[in-house]
Amino acid sequence: MFCLFALVPTFFLLNSLLKFFTSGRRKLPLPPGTMGWPYIGETFQLYSQNPNVFFASKVKKFGAIFKSHILGCPCVMISSPEAAKLVLVTKSDLFKPTFPASKERMLGKQAIFFHQGDYHIKLRKLVLRAFMPESIKSIVPDIDSVAIASLKSWEGQLINTFQEMKSFTFNVALLSIFGKDEVLYREDLKRCYYILEKGYNSMPINLPGTLFHKAMKARKELAQILAKIISLRRQMKHSHTDLLGSFMGDKEGLTDEQIADNVIGVIFAARDTTASVLTWIVKYLAENPSVLQAVTEEQEAIMMTKEECGEGKVLTWADSKKMPITLRSLRSLILPDLRLILLINFLDINLVSSEAQSFSMIWQVALKPNTFMPFGNGIHSCPGNELAKLEILVLVHHMTTKYRWSMVGPQNEIQYAPFALPQNGLPIRLSLKRESIDLHKLQKRHLQKEK
Ligand code: HEM
Repeated sequence: MFCLFALVPTFFLLNSLLKFFTSGRRKLPLPPGTMGWPYIGETFQLYSQNPNVFFASKVKKFGAIFKSHILGCPCVMISSPEAAKLVLVTKSDLFKPTFPASKERMLGKQAIFFHQGDYHIKLRKLVLRAFMPESIKSIVPDIDSVAIASLKSWEGQLINTFQEMKSFTFNVALLSIFGKDEVLYREDLKRCYYILEKGYNSMPINLPGTLFHKAMKARKELAQILAKIISLRRQMKHSHTDLLGSFMGDKEGLTDEQIADNVIGVIFAARDTTASVLTWIVKYLAENPSVLQAVTEEQEAIMMTKEECGEGKVLTWADSKKMPITLRSLRSLILPDLRLILLINFLDINLVSSEAQSFSMIWQVALKPNTFMPFGNGIHSCPGNELAKLEILVLVHHMTTKYRWSMVGPQNEIQYAPFALPQNGLPIRLSLKRESIDLHKLQKRHLQKEK
């Protein structure tokens, strides 16, 4: 998910497909392709370069469906929209989601991503209950505080945008899972989670000194912290509307282990995805002054209206619904890139042909159905998309109304880690706008526009 996520679904489809081919009484032939080195397979070919190169060369040699071996896991890769639709939607019941062993063991076997059927339906209901608009409305002021605090800590600094956005989205994820309690556990959870994530793309070799071993130790500690939080909540007996409250309130009851696996899973799903989108937004707003101005004006107008109505400064859910220009601008700026970011997920490789090299050209190519699915499709599609949009809008509101920023160093390259990101995580310098916003000036501008 993430943009680790971008690779993850690919794997899950793929290993599932492999099972599809090899299960049953009579073994079906596998599609063409190569399996690489014993055990290591073709992991390094995929992870050490732009994944599009890996996919393009395989598709050229073997066609849109080919076999490979990634992260210790034999798999079948697909890269056509028809196949994506078949696996995700029309025949999804035939495929069991499977991830490479390293990811499955780190997230926990009972996490939502790995399941189908009744258990998946039950989890999905609980997750959707916590992330539907009615539930996340109440945490907008808290997301607002997290955004303000993050921006304040970056003030006057040279920052790595992606790293800092990861910190912001991590804090928002904790807020949506633990509500206001999150500050109590934030540092411990962060310390363990940051060790865990380093092992996500490692080979599952559990020997002292390996990334995988360290990650598994951190995973154990995370589960212990979560068990403590759950036990404290049980003693308090208050009801909570956050994700943990939703999991704990289930009548049929989830075990502590099931809750821990799914809490870690949601952090994994929520963080890098949203942080990478925010990083691209910061880059493209900086590169497109007219869009930045339009977005800033809309955000300033929201501030002004709040001031005039005596509503206070804290953003609300209603404010987040008054940002059509921002939403439209971000969509048109970011979608062409998201298509690349998520390319390795479900995009038809033929779209990225030599005549469609630039992002804008790719945007102009009419999309075939099932080629671009930033939030997935079918029964596993993203249940956190409303929260993702909300936290993006809140951060953009404060960033454009109070700060200016400039990119530092060359910014023409894309790095793959393994997902697409601006070079070096986009170093920027952020500073407070010199003139504080003059509400009277704004009001005048607003009136002039109305005339
Ligand atoms: C821009 C940000 C995001 C993007 C692009 C994104 C993308 C996706 C995609 C493509 C899937 C489907 C994966 C698959 O088919 O296996 C997915 C699933 C999921 N996402 Fe997101 N996501 C984002 C943010 C979030 C957030 C903020 C949360 C939670 C707070 C979240 C929670 C989940 C969960 C729990 C699943 C698994 C659903 C299931 O298996 O039924 N995501 N996401």
